[in-house]
Amino acid sequence: MFEIRGKTAVVTGSGRGIGRDIAVQLARLGARVVVNVKKRQEDGKETLNMVLGYSDGILVQADVSRRDGARTLVRETLDAFGQVHILVNNAGLGIGAPFLDADDALIDKMVSTNLMSAVYCSQEFARVMQPGGCIVMMASMAGVRPMSMLSLYGISKAAVIKLAEYLALELAPKRIRVNAVAPSVVRTKMGESLIEFLGLDDEEYGMKHTLTGRMITVEEVTDAVLFLIRSESITGHTLMIDSGQALMSELSLARLGAGQE
Ligand SMILES: NC(=O)c1ccc[n+]([C@@H]2O[C@H](COP(=O)([O-])OP(=O)(O)OC[C@H]3O[C@@H](n4cnc5c(N)ncnc54)[C@H](OP(=O)(O)O)[C@@H]3O)[C@@H](O)[C@H]2O)c1
Repeated sequence: MFEIRGKTAVVTGSGRGIGRDIAVQLARLGARVVVNVKKRQEDGKETLNMVLGYSDGILVQADVSRRDGARTLVRETLDAFGQVHILVNNAGLGIGAPFLDADDALIDKMVSTNLMSAVYCSQEFARVMQPGGCIVMMASMAGVRPMSMLSLYGISKAAVIKLAEYLALELAPKRIRVNAVAPSVVRTKMGESLIEFLGLDDEEYGMKHTLTGRMITVEEVTDAVLFLIRSESITGHTLMIDSGQALMSELSLARLGAGQE
């Protein structure tokens, strides 16, 4: 099993939500953690304080949807800790919109934040990562099964899943494993917009849209990420965590999006 204690881990987009929980749990397990935000320094400082309660860490403000942001993150990581073993490409943006209404600015923002951030960070970090290290991509169930109003988000997350497979092949000679996690809706700032759009509370969402009757939690997503980091025999895999939602029909949501219900 891959030992997290004593390693250096970078979690992009860890100012709040899923990224924050991953960063804090990695610190709890003894990793030095690099917290990253795009602009909300206060969120980043809060996460860093939680990290410092367990281990060492730094905060890096950098827009990882741009090449220079990814380079800044690598440089500050190496300046602080000298090496890197774990990268979690978590930064993401979930804006729902009908495909026909999406303008170029929205298309560019969705692709750069959800896909190019993972491309730039994987490339820049894999060049300096220790052998035996690993990368985990934060994908989405929307990248596996189409969800209403999420075409741009879904296609960028589908590409992230393929990126994990391609990099698992290409980085294997460097002894770097690459995997992805694909969660369904989680109650974070991002997840809340979809839940509010549907007008459901968590219990109703669980009953209507899952096989298990319950929405997944941030902690369950973190557990999936930690599992993939520790499992040295798993690479090129996407672990879906969705309470069985991907097996259910999207028809009612599609009708809702089209104003037919
Ligand atoms: N919540 C869900 O239902 C759900 C479901 C499936 C997958 N996911 C995926 O899980 C990941 C985390 O989602 P979340 O729900 O925790 O989101 P969230 O609550 O909106 O948090 C997103 C974090 O990412 C940071 N970020 C965004 N763009 C960035 C950039 N270009 N550079 C650096 N940091 C950036 C934000 O920092 P700033 O505030 O400074 O911009 C924020 O700290 C995303 O990849 C998302 O697509 C979420």
